[in-house]
Amino acid sequence: MVTAFAPGRVNLIGEHTDYNDGLALPFAITAGVTVAAGPPARPDTVTVRASDLHQRDSFSLVDPGRARGWRAFVRGAVAELQRAGHALTATDLTISGDVPRGRGLSSSAALEVSLCLALLGVAGLPIGDRVALARICSRIEREWVGAQTGLLDQLASLQSSEDNALRIDFRTLECRDVPLRLGHHRFVAVDSGEARSLQSSGYNTRREECAEACRLLGIESLRDATVADAASLPAPLNRRVRHVVYENVRVDVAVAALIAGDMDHLGELINASHASLRDDYEISTPAVDATVARLREHGALGARIVGGGFGGSVLALLAPGAPLPNGAIELIPGPPAGLI
Ligand code: GLA
Repeated sequence: MVTAFAPGRVNLIGEHTDYNDGLALPFAITAGVTVAAGPPARPDTVTVRASDLHQRDSFSLVDPGRARGWRAFVRGAVAELQRAGHALTATDLTISGDVPRGRGLSSSAALEVSLCLALLGVAGLPIGDRVALARICSRIEREWVGAQTGLLDQLASLQSSEDNALRIDFRTLECRDVPLRLGHHRFVAVDSGEARSLQSSGYNTRREECAEACRLLGIESLRDATVADAASLPAPLNRRVRHVVYENVRVDVAVAALIAGDMDHLGELINASHASLRDDYEISTPAVDATVARLREHGALGARIVGGGFGGSVLALLAPGAPLPNGAIELIPGPPAGLI
């Protein structure tokens, strides 16, 4: 019997940069998904219980077949690990978790990472290269769930370390720890009340716009773009590129602010990121903007939309002593994914 845990994540800054070979600065949170894997109930079969949902599934180890919802993640994990050459064994899985879904806290990555670790663990296989595993997890979402994602969520869950943010360079996939000395500052997530769905949102349109901008500029990725390049493009591509260029800069300024312990400056950068995501990347909504405004009135040092956008959650940085806003979830830095 093995038990795996994988955390959700929050991204401090560096939004919509991962699929543009840019920079991001997430940290793993204490909320996550746990998967227990034991001996198979039936030979050559994977049986699964989603304990929070009171639902079950079972399928053939060698030919998982397609399904929807949470079942797609499990079948995808089994299929993609085997496709990558891992000799899995039949097993009985139990899934439970406490990452709020559809809130930009990466419940999907926590689920797929935890499933992969449990499936490898119960087969007696090593976790191996965590970046390679992040890629497998991203394929699960793309090929089995139908959501295009970058590698931000999976790398944050697999590569973070406790009490550090993770500066990820998506061009090299180099990950560097940045100490999170929060003192009595707190990060919180507040639901905008507007449901978000990566599959049906404009996320894929934004990715296509970035690819189109690269084609017009004759560059491999927007990591190579400049502000002058942005200005040379027709609308709305000029605004999309401007967001990506400045957001990458904000990530490294945020790293410096964290190292200096300058949380006020970090708050300003979070506010600047929101303005850019709202006006240039255009992924905010009136409900999200209203939530951001409410949090700032409440005294947040910074507040911004997080994740894919078009609804979902707002991240806020609260000053020491500031009370938790109504409905806020405190985001406490936690350990990375692993067997427990
Ligand atoms: C979603 C995706 C990530 C990333 C963010 C935006 O969370 O899963 O890969 O692109 O949106 O930064």
